[in-house]
Amino acid sequence: MHNVTLIPGDGIGPEITTAARRVIDASGVNINWEVVEAGAAMIERYGTPLPRYVIESIKKNKVALKGPLTTPVGKGFRSVNVTLRKELNLYANLRPARSLPGIITRYSHVDLVVVRENTEDLYAGVEHMVGRDAAESIKIITREASERIVRFAFQYAVKNNRKKVTVVHKANIMKLSDGLFLETARQVAEEYPGIEFEDVIVDALSMKLVQDPNRYDVMVMPNLYGDIISDLCAGLIGGLGVAPGANIGDGCALFEPVHGSAPDLAGQNKANPLAAVLSGVMMLQYLGEHRAAERISAAVERVLKEGKYLTGDLGGTASTGEMAEAIINNIK
Ligand code: NAI
Repeated sequence: MHNVTLIPGDGIGPEITTAARRVIDASGVNINWEVVEAGAAMIERYGTPLPRYVIESIKKNKVALKGPLTTPVGKGFRSVNVTLRKELNLYANLRPARSLPGIITRYSHVDLVVVRENTEDLYAGVEHMVGRDAAESIKIITREASERIVRFAFQYAVKNNRKKVTVVHKANIMKLSDGLFLETARQVAEEYPGIEFEDVIVDALSMKLVQDPNRYDVMVMPNLYGDIISDLCAGLIGGLGVAPGANIGDGCALFEPVHGSAPDLAGQNKANPLAAVLSGVMMLQYLGEHRAAERISAAVERVLKEGKYLTGDLGGTASTGEMAEAIINNIK
C-alpha cells in the first residue's frame, strides 16, 4: 500500500482530482489517500493559504497528487504552487507532451519533454517598487540549481532512451544569468557523450516548435521559459486539458496537471480530467506501479479512440464525471 497526499485544489481542482482518484483506485493499485486542503479558502481558518499540515503531510508521505490552486493576480498572497515547490525543494518540473490517439492536432507524432527549473529565476518573486512609477524584479540563476536541473534532464534522457537534450536560454541578452545557465549546461553535457546536445534561444525555439515539433526531444530551461514553453507544447497535443506534469525533488514528488484552476469552467463538471489522470499515471510510474499505470494509459487510449465520451475542449459533450467513468469502464 502507498500513502499519498491528495490536495484537491480549487476552481476545477476538486472535480478533476476526484476523477483522477477514482480512475487510479480502479486500476487495482492500493493507495491510502490523505486529503489535505490548501488555497485561498484556508486563509480565514489558518491565516495562510498553505497551512503547515499540508507540507508535513507531503514530507511524511513523500508523494502527492494535486489539483490546481488559484493565485491572485497583481496583489495578494504568493503563489501556493511556487511556495510548495520551493519549500519541498521540488527542483525539477517534468512536463511531457505526447500526441494522444484520437485527438486531432496540427502534428500527429509529437513527443516532447519540458524539464523546467522549479526553484529560482524570475519565479523567485523577488521584486520591489523603485519609487512609485517603476518596479524591479530580480532574476536569480545559480550554478548549483542550473547544474542540478541540467543533470536531471540528461539522466532522464538516459533512463528513457531519449536521443537529444536542448538547453533553452536567452543568453544573448541576459549574458550573466542565462549565460551562467548555458555555460553550466555545456559543462554537464560533456559528461553525457552518448546524448546529442544543442542550445537554442527561447524565441527561436517558440517559432521552430510551432513549425516542426519533431526537431526537439528533451528540452531543459530556466523557470519562466519552462512555464511558457510547456503551455505551448500542451497546445501541440490538444490543449491544457491533456497535459500532465510532475514536480520532483530528492526523495519527494508532487504530481499535478500543467493547467490552472480554470475559473471559467469551475463547478460545472465540464473540465477535462485527462491532465489529472495522466499526472496520476506519472505518479504510479514513480511509485513503481507500472502495471497499473499501463492499464490506465491503455484505457485512456481506448476512450480517446472511441471518441464517444470526450469533454468540450476535445470537441465532445461528456462531463468530467462521464469521461472518468468511461476510462474506468475501459480498464482491463
Ligand atoms: P488555466 O490553465 O486555468 O486556464 C487556461 C484555459 O485553459 C482556460 O480557457 C481554461 O478553461 C482551459 N483549461 C484549463 N484546464 C482545463 C481542463 N482541465 N479542461 C478543459 N479546459 C481547461 O489558466 P489561467 O486561467 O491563466 O489561470 C487560472 C488560475 O490558475 C490562476 O489563478 C493561475 O495562477 C492558476 N494556475 C495554477 C496552476 C497550478 O496550480 N499548478 C498552474 C497554472 C495556473
